[in-house]
Amino acid sequence: MSNVPATARPKLVAGNWKMHLRIATARALAEQAAAAAAEVAGPDVAVFPAFVHLATVREALRGSRVALGAQTSHEKQEGAHTGKVSPEMLADVGVTTVLCGHSERRQSGETDQMVRALARAALRAGLTPVICVGETLAEREADRTEEVLRRQVSVAVDGLSSDDLSRVELAYEPVWAIGTGRTATAAMATSAHRVVRDVLVSKFGEAGLGPRILYGGSVKPSNAAELMNSEGVDGVLVGGASLEGPSFRAILLGAVRS
Ligand code: 13P
Repeated sequence: MSNVPATARPKLVAGNWKMHLRIATARALAEQAAAAAAEVAGPDVAVFPAFVHLATVREALRGSRVALGAQTSHEKQEGAHTGKVSPEMLADVGVTTVLCGHSERRQSGETDQMVRALARAALRAGLTPVICVGETLAEREADRTEEVLRRQVSVAVDGLSSDDLSRVELAYEPVWAIGTGRTATAAMATSAHRVVRDVLVSKFGEAGLGPRILYGGSVKPSNAAELMNSEGVDGVLVGGASLEGPSFRAILLGAVRS
C-alpha cells in the first residue's frame, strides 16, 4: 500500500469538549486554546464545544488560528426537527468542521448509513466532516477490528467524489479507549490507520491519500507526542485532556517539540 509523506498532511490537535463546561468556563478554555495556538506555528488546532457555547467560543477565538467545530448536526438543511441543528445553521454561527458518527452517538443509534448522510450534509453546507470510526472492546476481542473499520469507512465515504473526499477528515477512536484511560499503543493505532487509509486508497486511488486520519481515545500530554508521531497518524482528537487549558497546551506544544 502506498503512503504519502507525513509532511503532506499538516497535523491537527483537536479538543472534543463533549457535554461539559458552562459559558464562562468555555470562554476561558477557548481563550487558553487560542493563546496556546499562538505560541506555535503548527499543528492545526480545533475545538468542538457544545452547541450552546458555539457563539461565545467563536468570539473568544476571533483573530486566532483555532478552528471552531461542532459535535454533530442534522442531515437536513431546515424543517420541523425539534431540537436538531442543521449544518447550514452551524456554518452561519462560524463553525467550519463537524464530528460525524462519534461512537457516543453511534451507541445511541447512529448507523453507518446515517453517518454517511451526516457527512454529505456537512459537505453540502461547506463544513469539513470528521468521520469517526472505531471498534468496541467486544469487536477487538473477537478479532473483528479490521472488518468493522472497513465497513464503517467504506459506507461513510461511499458515493463521494474525489473532490468531496479532499474536504473530509477521519478519526480512529477505539471505543474501549474513550474515557477509560486505556490508550491504543502506537502499533495498534498505526495498524488501524493503515486499514482506514487502505479503504480510502482502494476506493479513490491517489485522492485517498489526502484526508487526515486522527487518533482519539485517552490522549493526554504523556502519550500524545508518541501517538501523533506514529506512522499514519495525522493528529489527535482529545476528550478529557482538552478540558483543562494547561493539558491541552501541553499536548499542542508537545506535538511541535517531538
Ligand atoms: P477521551 O480523550 O476522554 O478518551 O475522549 C476521546 C474522544 O472521544 C474524543 O472525541
